[in-house]
Amino acid sequence: MHNAAFAALGLNWRYLALEVRPDDLPAALAGARVMGFAGLNLTVPHKLLALELVDALDVSAKVWGAVNTILFEGRHTRGGWRPLREFKQDSPVEIRTRGFNTDADAIVVAVREDLKIELRGRKVLLLGAGGAGRTAALRFATEGISELFLVNRTFGKAQKIQREITKQFPSVYVGLGYPKTEVDLVVNATSLGLQPGDPIPLDGKQFPLKQAGAVYDLIYRPAETPLLKAARKAGCQTGNGLGMLLHQGAKAFEIWTGKPAPLGVMRRALEAEVYRSSVHRPPSSPH
Ligand code: ATR
Repeated sequence: MHNAAFAALGLNWRYLALEVRPDDLPAALAGARVMGFAGLNLTVPHKLLALELVDALDVSAKVWGAVNTILFEGRHTRGGWRPLREFKQDSPVEIRTRGFNTDADAIVVAVREDLKIELRGRKVLLLGAGGAGRTAALRFATEGISELFLVNRTFGKAQKIQREITKQFPSVYVGLGYPKTEVDLVVNATSLGLQPGDPIPLDGKQFPLKQAGAVYDLIYRPAETPLLKAARKAGCQTGNGLGMLLHQGAKAFEIWTGKPAPLGVMRRALEAEVYRSSVHRPPSSPH
């Protein structure tokens, strides 16, 4: 999606995927710095490691406790820090890394765009309390949802998130386990659904899907997980994690380039790439 976006904007930039062992992350960052990279994305497990390694942290990385985007910044002897892309003829005397998190906001944008749901005042059932689940829970709380129900295989992790939210956002009611009433949105942040044959991450006896207005699955491959299929059959609105992937990327693109991301171009490139194999093609594209 990034290369398609660079091409659309006529930028002579390239986005490359490079596999780096966790132990080598400091060396990789040092290498990118001296080679004049404009920025980087990081994925698991580097997102947490980078917190300690970058020179400066944007508030987004501080709040969400993970770095998925790095911007290289330079400065003149007496000047302030500016993105490296702004240095044309002149060279910076020093270069530093600044870490951002573009994942957390992406889920809110994706839910708004794909499901037409504004989260303020809504009731949400969240499945999963791992890294992605915790970020989603906290981000939903900052968005002002009214009630959050947490379900996770390991109960203690859900309890920990409950305590964290109750302390930071006392106006949000946080329940553990399935709600008795209807909810506006169910979100799957577990890894169940990634592998063929995975069960649905929700106990239909305790919570029938017809009690949900909409279901969002963070998984985007397959396009329709067993959960989304069941939700569609139960008459819920559905959305998969492709929108989240798109929006974390679009935000990163804007951080690196300083230009508005061409969202349509990026979405088309992403869909073509992710659903290229007919096995993964959605029955009817959600976008
Ligand atoms: P991520 O960064 O994607 O959130 P993670 O932190 O490993 O990855 O979290 C994975 C989530 O999927 C957790 O909520 C996990 O439940 P536990 O906290 O009990 O481990 C959930 N998960 C993974 N495999 C599962 C399974 N077979 N059944 C139920 N939940 C599962």
